[in-house]
Amino acid sequence: LYQFFSPKPLVGQRVLITAGPTFEAIDPVRGITNLSSGKMGFAIARAARAAGAEVTLVAGPVHLATPRGVRRIDVRSARDMQAAVQAEVDRASVFIATAAVADWRPASSAGQKIKKDGSGQVPQMAFVENPDILAGVAQSERARSGQLYCVGFAAESEDLITHASAKRRRKGVPLLVGNIGPATFGQDDNALVLFDEHGWRELPRASKNALAQQLVAELAQLLQARQS
Ligand code: CTP
Ligand code: CA
Repeated sequence: LYQFFSPKPLVGQRVLITAGPTFEAIDPVRGITNLSSGKMGFAIARAARAAGAEVTLVAGPVHLATPRGVRRIDVRSARDMQAAVQAEVDRASVFIATAAVADWRPASSAGQKIKKDGSGQVPQMAFVENPDILAGVAQSERARSGQLYCVGFAAESEDLITHASAKRRRKGVPLLVGNIGPATFGQDDNALVLFDEHGWRELPRASKNALAQQLVAELAQLLQARQS
């Protein structure tokens, strides 16, 4: 019953969200990943859906149930995630990048499991940088003309205000959501700081579900302010 009468400020919005880590293969049985749980992105997907949006969630390898009413696309590597985003983003009015995308991947991935050769020698590994999915989307024509609203996330281990403000400008996004990590990875609660062109404001520590709802409410206001 509550759902019927609660406000739905995102009706008519099509929200595309990335969530979770990516996995970059070294060989068929090994790879590089990180400790992102995907919980924040899934919570935002749930909150955006509850607020009336049509939601597509591009998820890296995570063990989380798909929120009801949300369309989910599972991916593994950063390049898979980028391809899925590129295939979906033209339909979206909001793009929210919560994924902890691996910054680098092995320069090549072996077709067979790499074996020890018995000599004690260790394999040498070279890396290449992964594409920046968010920066690419933020540079697109639709984002620059205001048809697509982009939201970034940033986990910083120190100097959050300095690093996150600079990151928002570098990525060219109107809104960047910062938190002090990696202590929050996998936790159920978090504290967030929102950075926009006017400065920053804090959402105090709360559960990721409560924060996701606050974030969606803020987003709805920002979208409304842009329309009027
Ligand atoms: N991001 C992305 N693709 C990447 C790297 C990051 O889409 N290859 C997105 C993340 O989903 C997040 C934002 O960019 O919304 C910031 O990610 P972060 O890792 O904090 O920034 P980086 O630019 O990778 O800088 P660094 O890790 O060196 O701090
Ligand atoms: Ca990074």
